[in-house]
Amino acid sequence: MEWTKEQRYRTLNDVSEEEIQGLAKLVSQCPWRQSFHIQPETGLLNDPNGFSFFNGEYHLFYQWFPLGPIHGLKHWYHTKSKDLVHWENVGMGIEPSNQFDSHGAYSGSGIEHDGKLYFMYTGNTRDEDWNRHPYQCLAVMTRDGGIVKMDAPVITEVPSGYTDHFRDPKVWKNGELFYAVIGAQRENETGSVVLYQSRDLKDWKFMGEVKTGLGEDFGYMWECPDYFEIEGQGVFLFSPQGLKAKGDSYQNIYQSGYVIGSPIDLENMELKHGAFHELDRGFDFYAPQTTVDHQGRRILVGWMGLPEIDYPTDKNGWAHCLTLPRELTVKGGKLIQQPVDELKLLRGKKVETSQKVENEAICLDNFEGDVYELLAEFSNNTADEFGLELRVGENEKSVIKYDRIAKKVVFDRTESGEPFAEEFGTVRKCTLDAEKISFRIFVDVSSIEVFVNGGEEVFTGRIFPGKTSNGITVFSRGGQTNVQAVKWDIK
Ligand code: FRU
Repeated sequence: MEWTKEQRYRTLNDVSEEEIQGLAKLVSQCPWRQSFHIQPETGLLNDPNGFSFFNGEYHLFYQWFPLGPIHGLKHWYHTKSKDLVHWENVGMGIEPSNQFDSHGAYSGSGIEHDGKLYFMYTGNTRDEDWNRHPYQCLAVMTRDGGIVKMDAPVITEVPSGYTDHFRDPKVWKNGELFYAVIGAQRENETGSVVLYQSRDLKDWKFMGEVKTGLGEDFGYMWECPDYFEIEGQGVFLFSPQGLKAKGDSYQNIYQSGYVIGSPIDLENMELKHGAFHELDRGFDFYAPQTTVDHQGRRILVGWMGLPEIDYPTDKNGWAHCLTLPRELTVKGGKLIQQPVDELKLLRGKKVETSQKVENEAICLDNFEGDVYELLAEFSNNTADEFGLELRVGENEKSVIKYDRIAKKVVFDRTESGEPFAEEFGTVRKCTLDAEKISFRIFVDVSSIEVFVNGGEEVFTGRIFPGKTSNGITVFSRGGQTNVQAVKWDIK
């Protein structure tokens, strides 16, 4: 279906209850609704927004177009949780409503101040000629949960030297001062990030562009920047658009990743850092955002999806979900990402096995399922390759394996089910040199998240298999492996 501009920018006031009910019905008939991931009731979800711990609860919003699986008028939808696992759908968080966000309440972040939770976000507007003008806006949530937008934006102009691709403020506090990074595009159409400073979150001073070691040739736009310090190091995380695929890297339409080094030099606005690392080596991951909680943990959530790609759920009137929350730590100059410990709360019925697998594929009969957590550890490996086939059906399987010869972890969704995004390839790989390999895997109705060797690498992908494709197989070729596997049903 072709969506006209009018249809994409209708406000919810223009929509009848009947239309929403009709859409909800279509969504409910979808065979690929998730069971333990945050997903939209109807329409399209994209970036996580305003992620924060406030007043004893985690608040997590997402970009939302309620009326269909399309990027239209964006709202912030509000969810909250006490444990990062069980999420409550609260309802509308921020609704585009005035001349400063008429074409979308775009992405932004949350920060506590004076006993309230503040949100700074980009108000997207378009004029009659469809020229874009972004405003940076503020909204405030009080302890009773009510959210009020401020009447006027706090940053009204794009600084000179940059185009109207200027958005996604991420705010943090350093001593008495607030800082915000904003994703920007230079007039020469290269991606960059700029820095602002404020005492009160209302009055912002433009400091300048942040100097990085990435130069002026690292994509054409940097979306969703995030900056934080962890274990004494500075991490700058962002989603660059326009990187060309190179070897196993940058295979998706857009990337997201980070550089890590010394803490940002706020006076000189400079980041000294090492190489850019992709956060996720799978297929469907973009625009992640982090927060720090009351226990001091740095937690990341990403959008399990990508722009400009059709997904098989589109025909059922919805698209995308968020990833599971990951706790970040640092090891050897790289981020380690592990599913937050609370996810163990989901563990239900448990089955275990220990097998020697030698040039064979063994179907683990009592392991079947379409929604589960699986931990598989492979040792004494002499095989050229070994791994798992998940969601196995007559003509379907999703393969997670280790190629010992090439020293690569591989996620192959060539035969996962209903095909999509095939123009970007159906196999993802990354180099990992290790004797022992462990895969901690979360399988939901239409997704797989694989944490490799304690979070050294992560692969995330949507898959759209048939309902009865529930088998689990372990295999090895060209030698043997010993596998120890534990599977938990998800409660
Ligand atoms: C990233 C992004 C952001 C923008 C939002 C709009 O996916 O394009 O840059 O704020 O989505 O929904």
